[in-house]
Amino acid sequence: MSELRFDGRVAIVTGAGGGLGRQHALTLAARGCKVVVNDLGGGAHGSGQSSTAADKVVEEIRAIGGEAVANYDSVENGEAIVQTALTHFGTVDIVINNAGILRDVSFAKMTEQDWDLIMQVHLNGSKSVSHAAWSIMREKGYGRIIMTTSAAGIYGNFGQANYCAAKLGILGLANCLAEEGRNKNILVNTIAPLAASRLTETVMPADLLALLQPEAVSPLVAWLAHENCKETKGLFEVGAGFMAKLRWERSEGYVFPNQHVLSVDDVARQWDKITDFTTSTHPSSTTESFTPILEGIQHPNLGGNEFIDLDVASKAQLEIESSYDERDLSLYALGIGAAQNPLDHSELAYVYELGSEFQAFPTYGVMPQMNAMLNMAKQGITLPGMNYGFDRVLHGEQYTEIKRPLPPHAKLTHTFKLKTAYDKNPNAVITFAISSKDESGEELIYNEMTAFVRGAGGWGGDRGDSLATNIAPDREPDAVIEEKTDIN
Ligand code: NAI
Repeated sequence: MSELRFDGRVAIVTGAGGGLGRQHALTLAARGCKVVVNDLGGGAHGSGQSSTAADKVVEEIRAIGGEAVANYDSVENGEAIVQTALTHFGTVDIVINNAGILRDVSFAKMTEQDWDLIMQVHLNGSKSVSHAAWSIMREKGYGRIIMTTSAAGIYGNFGQANYCAAKLGILGLANCLAEEGRNKNILVNTIAPLAASRLTETVMPADLLALLQPEAVSPLVAWLAHENCKETKGLFEVGAGFMAKLRWERSEGYVFPNQHVLSVDDVARQWDKITDFTTSTHPSSTTESFTPILEGIQHPNLGGNEFIDLDVASKAQLEIESSYDERDLSLYALGIGAAQNPLDHSELAYVYELGSEFQAFPTYGVMPQMNAMLNMAKQGITLPGMNYGFDRVLHGEQYTEIKRPLPPHAKLTHTFKLKTAYDKNPNAVITFAISSKDESGEELIYNEMTAFVRGAGGWGGDRGDSLATNIAPDREPDAVIEEKTDIN
């Protein structure tokens, strides 16, 4: 593989008089890049100024046969730095925003000056140089910008409130410029390095610093600056041979039901779900960020509580098998009072299974799914999202449709689904739809079972219609049938 070169390219490396910047400049220059070596030449805390730092690195580059020019302006004066590139090399292709200082102090003791100085050099400096180069890059349809953030900014660090804020501000700047530069072939990435330099020499032991050479960081910077690299809006941690990409992670989150007013108690109740990363996503744009919010508006959460989770239950279905035979049919018929008079042959057909006329009493159609449901309850199986015990349930209504005469025996598969759930706070009224199919897969019976579930309401859902159900019309009945409970 031929080595990656930068011939004909022009780079500005800020703060290149020492540390990481010097190494970035040397690495690029060694591969044919023309480099503006910018450095104010001040102290690590932002005091003083000198041209020696930049001049020395320019000499080093020239010594290895490279092309470089020094610039001594502060990064706050980006126009002047870019002008140096234009004057000497005619253009700018690469900007490496690296210059930096520290004013570490606890937040309690931080002065306005500590804050402002760090903002000026890191955040305003990165903006200023990038901004001055931006129109040139846009015009030529080519640009590579590398920003320098810090683990301190990403994760937070004691005594660096100014630095953390400025460093994460730089990442925000990079993320935005990546979007604005995308269709102009201006790619913007950010590194969070760890390397021995005068900024770290006071906070790390010497033997560790010896292993953290800037030479292990610059190759990543050079790759991100190369025309072959198509990465943009990336964030990378890099040091001592370790390189990794970072991204945002978002918990699956929780969509509250469409309530009028969310309360602080609602938030407290759902806190575990809001903060649970078991299933997570990695949004990488504002569009992806807003998606769940907009989806929540289009498909509001149905809601629920510890007894009933309507979002789960509304999508759930449960299949249970059961069977019945002649004995079940006969016992059922006897149970509801058939053949009270054994001499009345008209009802023998429901109870005498060996008779040629033997048949199921039609209302038996309510039984197989009911038995299956009671069996489920015994085994502790419920429709997902229905988390209440049978001790809360009162059977309310039953609707049964028999699709064709029930055979004398059958093996059935019942599919349970939630049809409606009304919140009669504090109770709930739940209707299940149950389709029972025979072995050929044909629906034999359809049931709807409505249950009153004690204490399971109160999730802020629809109360349902309280008035219109089963109210007799205000007139005389069409017919009246009187029936006496049979003696058996
Ligand atoms: P360094 O102090 O060796 O290099 C920074 C250079 O920037 C110095 O040569 C300094 O003169 C120059 N500079 C300071 N203010 C300037 C200004 N206003 N205009 C122009 N040049 C200016 O420090 P190091 O470690 O090489 O830092 C380079 C960058 O990497 C900084 O942005 C720093 O915050 C960042 N960084 C470094 C880490 C490390 O482990 N060394 C860790 C995380 C971030």
